Amino acid sequence: MADQPDYSHIIKSLQHKFDEIDQDTDDHLLGLLYSKPITYWDYIQTDALLSLQKQRTVLPDEMVFIAYHQINELIFKMILWEISQVAEKESINAEFFEGKIMRISRYFNMLTTSFNIMREGMEVEQYMKFRYTLTPASGFQSAQYRFIEFASTELINLIDYRFRKDIDRKTPYTHAFEHLYWQAAGKDHKTGKKSILLLNFEDRYKDEFLRFMEAYNTKNLWTRFKELPKKDREDKDLVKAMRHYDYTVNVTWVMAHYNAAKHYIESGIGDGEATGGSDWKKYMHPKYQRRIFFPDLWSEDELKNWGNNI
Ligand code: HEM
Repeated sequence: MADQPDYSHIIKSLQHKFDEIDQDTDDHLLGLLYSKPITYWDYIQTDALLSLQKQRTVLPDEMVFIAYHQINELIFKMILWEISQVAEKESINAEFFEGKIMRISRYFNMLTTSFNIMREGMEVEQYMKFRYTLTPASGFQSAQYRFIEFASTELINLIDYRFRKDIDRKTPYTHAFEHLYWQAAGKDHKTGKKSILLLNFEDRYKDEFLRFMEAYNTKNLWTRFKELPKKDREDKDLVKAMRHYDYTVNVTWVMAHYNAAKHYIESGIGDGEATGGSDWKKYMHPKYQRRIFFPDLWSEDELKNWGNNI
């Protein structure tokens, strides 16, 4: 018995843990005795995950389209997870900030470099058929993508350039919402009438968006960066990481997405219209959208030429 391991310190810690929450340590130890060993598939929920790819057509490449969108949504979730840690942390320094921005950037790099799965990974003829079953839906209706935007910058940087001078921090959120840059994709620019793409999106998410916009008004990445002490704001690695993130999300990813859209929509098959019905060629290009999360980190020249040199 002499070489029997001594578990007394672990038992003591467990007893302490369960005493704190008025729980019987015996019951929990017995639970341990009878519990099943964990397996990979139970932990990762493989069966549930792999049951979520439901095709609407018999065309095999529709599977690529569904699965890749789902992968994007999972990565969006991980990005929001990292942003929320910056948003919630009480005292923050350049090193912590940079570490999180680099994690987020790696996720966006992955989404950008893998976008050719959309451009090259599906037969044009198949895409041009199964997309008919998707109208009037569009990736435009990805709520997590919008959450990432709200969580990354101040609202003013997401407002359509034409309306920025009339909007400030006192503007009600409902009014600012109507002037977000992406409203342009779903509104008839002459009559202001909203498309079904936009109406469906707002029905489902508008309330959540308004709550999120308000919550992140004071803790988005850009506001948190501006609160840092001067020496951290001037930290070269942090500034480089912030610029990289801004450029990857708002130029590189946008261009990869635009080129994939062009590849199919302008393939010569079909009517050249997007499933969501936007004036897509104009709307999707970074030089028109000019979405910039961290404007003070770019020179005047860089701002002027945003999305022009690609
Ligand atoms: C062949 C693949 C794709 C094509 C042809 C395509 C096409 C389009 C088009 C034309 C729009 C403009 C709105 C509309 O009228 O529909 C759009 C918006 C959008 N799509 Fe895609 N898309 C593709 C893949 C993806 C993927 C994989 C994602 C990832 C979730 C995605 C996310 C988005 C988002 C977030 C928007 C809104 C962008 C913004 O407001 O600036 N798309 N897409």
